Amino acid sequence: MNDMTVRKGLDGVYADETEVSKVMPEINSLTYKGYPVQDLAEKCCFEEVAYLLWNGELPNEGQLEEFKKSERKYRELPEDLIKSIKLYPNYAHPMDSVRTGVSFLGMEDRRVWDSDNATNRDKALQLFARIPTIIAADYRCRKGLEIIAPKKDLSFAENFFHMCFGEVPSEEMVRAFDVSLILYAEHGFNASTFTSRVITSTMSDLNSAVVGAISALKGPLHGGANEQVMHMLEEVGEPSKAKEWMLTALKEKRKIMGFGHRVYRKGDSRVPTMKKYADGLGELTGQTKWKEIADELEKTMVDEKNIYPNLDFPAGPAYYLMGFDIDMFTPIFVMARITGWSAHIIEQTENNRIIRPLCVYKGPKERKVTALKERS
Ligand code: COA
Repeated sequence: MNDMTVRKGLDGVYADETEVSKVMPEINSLTYKGYPVQDLAEKCCFEEVAYLLWNGELPNEGQLEEFKKSERKYRELPEDLIKSIKLYPNYAHPMDSVRTGVSFLGMEDRRVWDSDNATNRDKALQLFARIPTIIAADYRCRKGLEIIAPKKDLSFAENFFHMCFGEVPSEEMVRAFDVSLILYAEHGFNASTFTSRVITSTMSDLNSAVVGAISALKGPLHGGANEQVMHMLEEVGEPSKAKEWMLTALKEKRKIMGFGHRVYRKGDSRVPTMKKYADGLGELTGQTKWKEIADELEKTMVDEKNIYPNLDFPAGPAYYLMGFDIDMFTPIFVMARITGWSAHIIEQTENNRIIRPLCVYKGPKERKVTALKERS
């Protein structure tokens, strides 16, 4: 094979096969292991979806109970990590904190070089259980508050609220949070998942692959967009200013956060479900202003550019209405995507070949090296 066509950004390139999820832009659909994501969001809890991504089937009641028990057992952080979180600078972005926490856990794990299926699944389960504890502990430390220990009698979503705020909000709010985690859990060969597969392909370890994935997710063109969406809504400020704001931004050729997608061209399959829950939160909290601004921005963007919102567009304001600081939005995405990343890391490990593409050289022609003396 000697095709030197460059596909900038690997646009349209099939890099491997996967059994984890299928993105079908032509029918605006996304399935995890064959199940439409919007149905999973409406009928399952996040723990069921995590089980599905790792085991290929939805759990029965007994299997779910067992799975929940094993996750809850791992929620506590090692004392060394808690000490280290207390030393993180309080100006650090929480994505850097969670990346450092995951790296710390990998460093402390004596099984670091073991990547057999059972060990990788156990490492993934540990990260699934502990990433929320890292994010919440870091949040509390940055605010100068006491760290709140996880509780074993709370669900994954409830426990996160408890560790951040010391209380669990209404069922409706917890449900909206759980739905967001399900929608964020997995999405094919996106930039962070692909990063995790590249790292895994060198036979590096699971935690290292997740550290790389978090680093990729942090960027505003990927997961970081959910934070930028909220900054944008705040910048717009009022529904009456939204249209004008968008027209000016487009004239200035600004990138509008929360819009566009490499794969979806006619809308993101996850948006209608997330929007429904975000709008519900607006009603619940009596803050409908963000929905009004968002609707006007969306209408103007679609009319002017035919570019549709992606999941980050409704997820950003939803997290804001739940009471989270804006810089926690992308770390929450990590809490969800750890499930998809680890499913891909395990899949890559089971059928591995190092990922190593080519590039077309455009630099100077080959030339002679002259000695330093001759160059001066
Ligand atoms: N705001 C303004 N213009 C946008 C845009 C956006 N959010 N998304 C795409 N476009 C424009 C591009 O600038 C490009 O215009 P051009 O042909 O004049 O250069 C055109 O639409 C086609 O872009 P496309 O090829 O679809 O973009 P991509 O595949 O390279 O990038 C994203 C995809 C997601 C990175 C891009 O849409 C983006 O930056 N979105 C904002 C960040 C975001 O929300 N990221 C989360 C993704 S889930």
